[in-house]
Amino acid sequence: MNPKDFLPNPYRDLPAEGKVAWKAPSNIALVKYWGKKANQIPANPSISFTLDACATTTSIVYSRKEESSQFSFDLLLDGRPKDDFKPKIQTFFERIVDYVPFLTSYHFKIETSNSFPHSSGIASSASGMAALALCLLDIERKLDAKMDDVFFNKKASFLARLGSGSACRSIEGDLIQWGIHQEIPTSSDLFGIKYPFDVDSVFNNFHDTILLVHKGEKQVSSTVGHNLMHDHPYAARRFQQAHDNLNKLKEVFSKGDLESFIQIVESEALTLHAMMMTSNPYFILMKPDTLEIINKIWVYRKETKTPICFTLDAGANVHVLYPKSVKEKAIQFIQNELVAHCENGHYICDRIGKGARKLVENTQ
Ligand code: PMV
Repeated sequence: MNPKDFLPNPYRDLPAEGKVAWKAPSNIALVKYWGKKANQIPANPSISFTLDACATTTSIVYSRKEESSQFSFDLLLDGRPKDDFKPKIQTFFERIVDYVPFLTSYHFKIETSNSFPHSSGIASSASGMAALALCLLDIERKLDAKMDDVFFNKKASFLARLGSGSACRSIEGDLIQWGIHQEIPTSSDLFGIKYPFDVDSVFNNFHDTILLVHKGEKQVSSTVGHNLMHDHPYAARRFQQAHDNLNKLKEVFSKGDLESFIQIVESEALTLHAMMMTSNPYFILMKPDTLEIINKIWVYRKETKTPICFTLDAGANVHVLYPKSVKEKAIQFIQNELVAHCENGHYICDRIGKGARKLVENTQ
């Protein structure tokens, strides 16, 4: 497919008003997306587990306005106006207006809230942009009775990607791949797809306990970080490594090979941070407690042979991944040894999830 396939047919009969609401989950990458080309095209393919508990709920009340090229919207976070988020939404609207041209025909009241605590250091951009894209596309679906679920999910992912790259992996569950890969025939740079190959049942019920090591705003945004990959001395090799890791994962997933899974996932996390440390300018997002946790996981895994591992986002928090079969042991270990490294002892128990859900029927 190419971007033109997402241009709608001219609309007939725009409704006067209506309301939609969607809940979209966050996701955690196993092979990381880091580095991008123009128009939010990823420099390398990635794959993620869709999460369940960490999610954004967004509702939109829309009403017809005078036709003009300007966007008109109010934005509320947890019931309160959030004007500092508006420029991000404005940019998002500018990027997607060709694909959802009704954006200039309505005033939108956008209300959003996150299930995870505000400023927990968990990025809300993936779940937030996914929920917003789903609401907007739901409005368009009212105008195009022929839009089926397959196209709806593709276009929602396509739109979400233009808000925040990783958001395109937050529409469906439970294992989502994004970015062209030679061995994955249906893969695309434009949207995420459900992983098309066999996955052993051990990966169906993975848990992700997110240790909130540092809740403050990170010093370097993802946008800046992605851009630093342009002149990065190790970029080409890193992008190739992501392709290779996706290749390796094919057998790992089908065989349920936890040992190799752990090796690939942890290497990906550390490579992401190694790219940050070796960019120009260089930066470090991990904190001393991040490293303490990683070391404790390694010691625990060696001593107990429990298949528990870590991954990292672009921040100091640690995602602890493990299959459901070792949940009791893992939680015990986390509580006894790792929670002490979390800010105010805070952590979030999450697990692999099924994707976004519609909350309010699009009414007019
Ligand atoms: O979606 P962005 O632009 O915030 O980038 C996210 C990048 C990582 O979270 C670090 C990796 C990934 O693949 O999700």
